[in-house]
Amino acid sequence: MACRQLLLLSSLLLVASLTGAKPTSRAAPHIIHILVDDFGWNEVGYHQPSDVSADEIEVQTPNIDALKEEGLELDRMYVHKICSPSRSSVQTGRDPIHVNVQNVHPEVTNSDDPVGGFQGIPLNMSTMAEVLSDTGLYETSFVGKWDVGMATDMHAPYSRGYEKFFGYFHHSNDYWNFNEQKCSLKAVKDLWLHNETFSGPAVHLENGAHCGQDNQSPDGERCVYEEELLMGSVKQQLQDYAAGDQEKSLFMFWSTHLVHMPLQVPDSFLEKFSDVDDSYRRSMRAMSNYLDTEIGEVVDTLKETGLWEDTVLVFHADNGGEIMTQSCGGNNYPLRGGKFSNFEGGIRVNAIVSGGYLPEDRRGKVEGRLFTSADWLSTYASLAGVDTDNLSDAKAVASNLPDYDSVNQWPIISGEAEADVVAREEVIIGDTTSVEFNGDGDTLVGGLIRGRWKLLLGAKNKLYRISQDVVTSVNYPSHPIIVPEAIFRTCSRKLKNACLFDIYADPAETTSVAEENEDIFNEMLARIDELQETVYSPDRGKKDKRACEAAKGEYGGWWGPFM
Ligand SMILES: *[C@@H]1O[C@H](CO)[C@@H](O)[C@H](O)[C@H]1NC(C)=O
Ligand SMILES: *[C@@H]1O[C@H](CO)[C@@H](O)[C@H](O)[C@H]1NC(C)=O
Ligand SMILES: *[C@@H]1O[C@H](CO)[C@@H](O)[C@H](O)[C@H]1NC(C)=O
Repeated sequence: MACRQLLLLSSLLLVASLTGAKPTSRAAPHIIHILVDDFGWNEVGYHQPSDVSADEIEVQTPNIDALKEEGLELDRMYVHKICSPSRSSVQTGRDPIHVNVQNVHPEVTNSDDPVGGFQGIPLNMSTMAEVLSDTGLYETSFVGKWDVGMATDMHAPYSRGYEKFFGYFHHSNDYWNFNEQKCSLKAVKDLWLHNETFSGPAVHLENGAHCGQDNQSPDGERCVYEEELLMGSVKQQLQDYAAGDQEKSLFMFWSTHLVHMPLQVPDSFLEKFSDVDDSYRRSMRAMSNYLDTEIGEVVDTLKETGLWEDTVLVFHADNGGEIMTQSCGGNNYPLRGGKFSNFEGGIRVNAIVSGGYLPEDRRGKVEGRLFTSADWLSTYASLAGVDTDNLSDAKAVASNLPDYDSVNQWPIISGEAEADVVAREEVIIGDTTSVEFNGDGDTLVGGLIRGRWKLLLGAKNKLYRISQDVVTSVNYPSHPIIVPEAIFRTCSRKLKNACLFDIYADPAETTSVAEENEDIFNEMLARIDELQETVYSPDRGKKDKRACEAAKGEYGGWWGPFM
């Protein structure tokens, strides 16, 4: 009965939006999606163990903790283990195995496949911004890291449903000079602006030649930290929107650079952590603290402008923290492994739903049901009054591409659904045969989560090994983990070497319980094999020399669409 009423209500909303009836007050809430980069499970204050005394706790994130206090914590939010696939999944509402599991660079192309022969999201797949735009209820903007395709203008955010874009195309760039990747040994910069009147490299924001991590106030030169530019744009856009007619609701996707490598941060933040001996950890803590500070500023802006009351704010990481010492310095304690690994530390991430639109009785609660990166598309569509029961991407289906995998989680988030109702029954874990981090390979189903059970399956060509079979200590690092990839666990198809974990009882994945649960193991393995038949696995191609020609030519040393 309740379900029927919901359906009716959402159909009415849909009719209202299709007939173009001007809502007297906006028909849908604002949506602010904050996607943070490589942010480890143990980088937030609220995940510090309760048995550690306050002065021993090394992580302080008062603003993110506050967001959690006035919001709903999602305790089981799963993503892909690396950046580009995770972002492809969020944008398109697909499981990574149905859109992209490769972390190749955006310069690759494969002329044999005009739909999928590129990095990131294949052409003809719709994104969450297109779904929201199509309702006519939203204006849309993207700020920060894109990382899901740049080959043509059709791949850029401004052709994927975002009216505005300020950010960069690659996995990462230098926070001070915006350099990323090279063309014949010459560094190329990566920062783009697209608004109503301009679309091109953000040359006007270039810092002085001497500006860098080691010289943050060079004489007479401009020197602005990239994250400050991104946050500044978010705040400015919120203020401009609030000062306007607000006829449409606002959908803003803010994809921070922090806390991804390189380890660069303003000196004033680094100084706060001068007592941390390990220089990598010191930088990571300063970067997390900077991230926390800017989240606080944006939340304040939402509150000052009055937008907060009618906002759904979602905050989560794209994958776990990067735990390599002598290189990064993230921490996912008590979870095993980190970025690049399908252990929990790589794929179970910090996630919060907050904002004034969240029903009062859901605030301060912890939600333990399963969520994935694919679910936001349907969840947001439902907020815009779209009937998500039969949501289908006609453009993709017509091109023989996988349809949405997205589950509307709003009934769970809002508390409309009873506590025993589950919107999502399983999480499909993606993997690749590629042996290089940023290489291309075949798409694999690397595991499955169902309730308390998690089955991991290594890639056959990698001898069924799952890397990073390590857990750091509360206050990282407790012991040197130089190359965690070299520390692996075999997770094969054989019961004896299987990796079936009870992640409720054993969240750190210490002990396989496959032998005691042979039926569950067999059932889940069969499901993995079944899912393997459905994967999307295009050949992404090779680095295309036109990318460098465009960078060195028309863009004057900056990256941009090149075909
Ligand atoms: C899919 O994309 C290709 C390449 O852009 C285009 O030629 C084709 O018309 C698209 N197909 C559909 C059904 O939109
Ligand atoms: C677009 O960006 C350019 C470059 O910063 C700026 O000069 C222009 O005013 C912007 N246009 C609008 C409509 O915001
Ligand atoms: C949605 O799809 C189901 C079958 O998957 C069908 O029974 C139902 O009629 C459809 N609803 C609408 C509104 O199209």
